[in-house]
Amino acid sequence: MGTWLLNGKLLNVANKELETKHIYIEQGKINKIMQSHEKPQVDGHEVIDAEGKLVSAGFIDMHVHFREPGFEYKETIATGTKSAAKGGFTTVACMPNTRPIVDDVETLQLVLDKAETEGIVRVLPYAAITENELGRDLTDFDALKNKGAIGFTDDGVGVQSAQMMKDAMSKAAAMNMPVIAHCEDNTLVVGAAVTDGAFAKKHGLKGIPNESEAIHVGRDILLAETTGVHYHVCHVSTEQSVRLIRQAKQIGIKVTAEVCPHHLLLSDEDIPALDANWKMNPPLRTPRDVEAMIEAIEDGTIDMIVTDHAPHSEDEKAQELQRAPFGIVGLETAFPLLYTKFVQTGKWTLDFLIQRMTEKPAEVFKLDSGKVSIGADADLTIIDLETTKTVDPETFLSKGRNTPFKGWKLQGWPVKTLVGGKVVWSD
Ligand code: DOR
Ligand code: ZN
Ligand code: ZN
Repeated sequence: MGTWLLNGKLLNVANKELETKHIYIEQGKINKIMQSHEKPQVDGHEVIDAEGKLVSAGFIDMHVHFREPGFEYKETIATGTKSAAKGGFTTVACMPNTRPIVDDVETLQLVLDKAETEGIVRVLPYAAITENELGRDLTDFDALKNKGAIGFTDDGVGVQSAQMMKDAMSKAAAMNMPVIAHCEDNTLVVGAAVTDGAFAKKHGLKGIPNESEAIHVGRDILLAETTGVHYHVCHVSTEQSVRLIRQAKQIGIKVTAEVCPHHLLLSDEDIPALDANWKMNPPLRTPRDVEAMIEAIEDGTIDMIVTDHAPHSEDEKAQELQRAPFGIVGLETAFPLLYTKFVQTGKWTLDFLIQRMTEKPAEVFKLDSGKVSIGADADLTIIDLETTKTVDPETFLSKGRNTPFKGWKLQGWPVKTLVGGKVVWSD
């Protein structure tokens, strides 16, 4: 028995038009794609009616924090993958800043086991660059790669020592593995919670300067040039970083980059009050930086969109701004936000947005997924592009409620998510 997904609207890659088609799924893979006028033989098969809905390749988020092991009160692999499925994501890559940190094969195995038994979407684990993410000793890259790590990153903190980063890159390059960097120079940060901009000034706060990110981006690009590693920049947020990445790409250095919805949509001038639901790292930057992010994703300097889904408890986020942890959730609002603010406004085509959430991350990280094509895994997202809903954190499947987008009226909500042909979430 297979599954027929009938009358869904598929993006035609060639002409960028939406065309009604029928998809037949067998043994977890896309087996046939039929034109709307053709009559599928559905007898004996499961049937899913997708009439009027968009059917896209499942979204891929290369940057999430699922908190397990160690911080299960914030999120687990079970709740994190449910949140992902509800947001239309079928593959997520998990950051290693758990407790313990994913810096050895035992902890990595634990994540893989949990993903296998409790995860409802595909979970790809990153492993740490340095033990405990302390920046002192490299982890055992070979063992971690063999166990299933897809790349190395100390996300949450920057690797402060250039020599350490160079060693990591040399080793990763020799193994054909990417290094994924949270770019932050600690000597330029010193305990600030928001960017060095209008909001900090207004409230008399210390600010995180743009250079704290861009200095690492620049340093690492030079090291990537020397070592030949695939270097991927996390959550780009500053105009200066974009400039450096753009130049590096132009001269053929193997650098790729990601940006988060919040850095495309919000600046520090939008922060309404001293509210930690607006606190994340990197912070919301100036309007000029936001413009630079949009330009960079549009011209290909930035390759993909990721959420940096970073759940924290309500108590933690209720603390005063300075004390509260960095991070916001993102999986359940990413697509509706971007669809409403960029596609419906006519700035981007639907195809452009979907590519940056499917094909592009798949291409950069050499994944088999990201396309609706015959023989591919049936990782699919069905989206209602018509209905308007208001963001209500109380309805999130994530344990995190920490979002600055509460109350936003948005269109483009996923209604059903399939992984390997199985419905893992349905509205
Ligand atoms: O906002 C953030 N939250 N940025 C990070 O780099 C880490 C993350 C987290 O783990 O909460
Ligand atoms: Zn980070
Ligand atoms: Zn992160």
